Amino acid sequence: MSTENAADSSGVGLQRTVSLMGGVALIAGTMIGSGIFVSPKGVLEDTGSVGLSLVIWTACGLLSMLGALVYAELGASISQSGGEWIYLHLAFSPLHRVLGPIPAYLYSWTNVVVMKPSSVAIICLTFSQYIMTPFFDACGPPELVLKLLTVTTIMLLAAINIYSPKAGNRVQILFFLVKVAALLAIIVGGIYRMALGDTKHVSSGFQGTVSSPARIAKAFYSGLWAYDGWNNLNYVTEEIKNPKRNIPLAIIISIPLVTVIYIITNLAYFSVLSPSALLASDAVAVDWALLVLPSAAVVITVCVAFSTFGAANGTLLAGSRLVYAAARGGHLVSLLSMIDINHNSPSSSVVLTATIAIIMVIPGDIFTLIDFFSFSAWIFYGLTMASLLILRWRQPDLPRPFRCPIIIPIIVLLCSIYLVIAPIIDSPDILYLIATLFMLAGLIFYFPLVALNKHIKSFDHVTLFLQKLMQISPSDTEPD
Ligand code: ARG
Repeated sequence: MSTENAADSSGVGLQRTVSLMGGVALIAGTMIGSGIFVSPKGVLEDTGSVGLSLVIWTACGLLSMLGALVYAELGASISQSGGEWIYLHLAFSPLHRVLGPIPAYLYSWTNVVVMKPSSVAIICLTFSQYIMTPFFDACGPPELVLKLLTVTTIMLLAAINIYSPKAGNRVQILFFLVKVAALLAIIVGGIYRMALGDTKHVSSGFQGTVSSPARIAKAFYSGLWAYDGWNNLNYVTEEIKNPKRNIPLAIIISIPLVTVIYIITNLAYFSVLSPSALLASDAVAVDWALLVLPSAAVVITVCVAFSTFGAANGTLLAGSRLVYAAARGGHLVSLLSMIDINHNSPSSSVVLTATIAIIMVIPGDIFTLIDFFSFSAWIFYGLTMASLLILRWRQPDLPRPFRCPIIIPIIVLLCSIYLVIAPIIDSPDILYLIATLFMLAGLIFYFPLVALNKHIKSFDHVTLFLQKLMQISPSDTEPD
């Protein structure tokens, strides 16, 4: 394996190559994906008014910023890569020999079986919706056609990532530029229209506002989906130049930047689309363009499609470091950290994610999947906030080059409790039960395999069989 790939996949000999700018691009590039092109509808649906929608978009930015400040402290004081997994592990595992490691273990499990596949599914559904909108009338494409295209896209992405991971990486930068260009066009067009006096929808203010706590929490789910990715730098701590300075700085620059972009983009949408037109639209940027720049609508469609394709590609490939960190800590089967011997790609984890994503696409729609994702993700963001509190208490002398005020993790923890509990109490939906069961199902494997460290012989045969079938082997460099 080449050194470059070894560094990529195993965490060995990692070079500190990510500069401050690289860090900003990494955070903003993951955050801006599909959400700003689909979530405005979800947020408006659950808030009922333009005014409250804009408040929620701002609040989501603020909450992400506060959460990220906590991650800045964790990232600057704990030098290992691996994001939440390592923090949950360091904070909770010492508390109890058997129960302590459960949060970190369940995090890696949930990430592999719920969060990553649902992310891929949501982004690919958005991709298909945008690609198809120009070809169908106002009723949109038939469900079956939409899903078939989504499944095909997921399979195509999986194939690209298995057979040519390098190609996947290269197109990433191009796609980032394309999506920034699309958003800039919408922002400039929107400002122009508002300057011409198109402000009647925005000035409708809080008319129609919904006050149910569960609906508001769900509006947050949609908004927070668009902001998700604010935690991404902590997965690559070991690769950042001068992390103690650059992690906090990159966070402080990129999250307010994305927040401002999102708020102006929403204002731009509302400059020409009425709330009911926005609610009726499955591809808001295309409908916006049809009204403002009809001749450029196809260009916007293509840009958004590229952007989401890039985001799905990044999501499918990213997280290989997390899988490594968890597998080397004995929390995931070794199979998932193995590498395709012919193409140096993490093929087993790509195949698993793509397969679960396809299973989710078949019955699911975008907004159900967003709820599913955000509900699960915020359980673990909350636990990570608790990790910071535990580490401050148990390891007061750990060097902390960046210290966030202690009130911040407490606020974010309380918000996450609200976000997780409010929808369940107010309108218990089978969806949350399914998500919880998915998460807890991980415990079936935890007790025999991790807590009691039982070696099950037949597992070796299965592993060997799959290794031969998929042509994968453990990475030939030792993870550190
Ligand atoms: N915010 C992104 C979007 O709007 C989703 C990010 C998913 N999360 C992640 N860690 N890749 O599409």
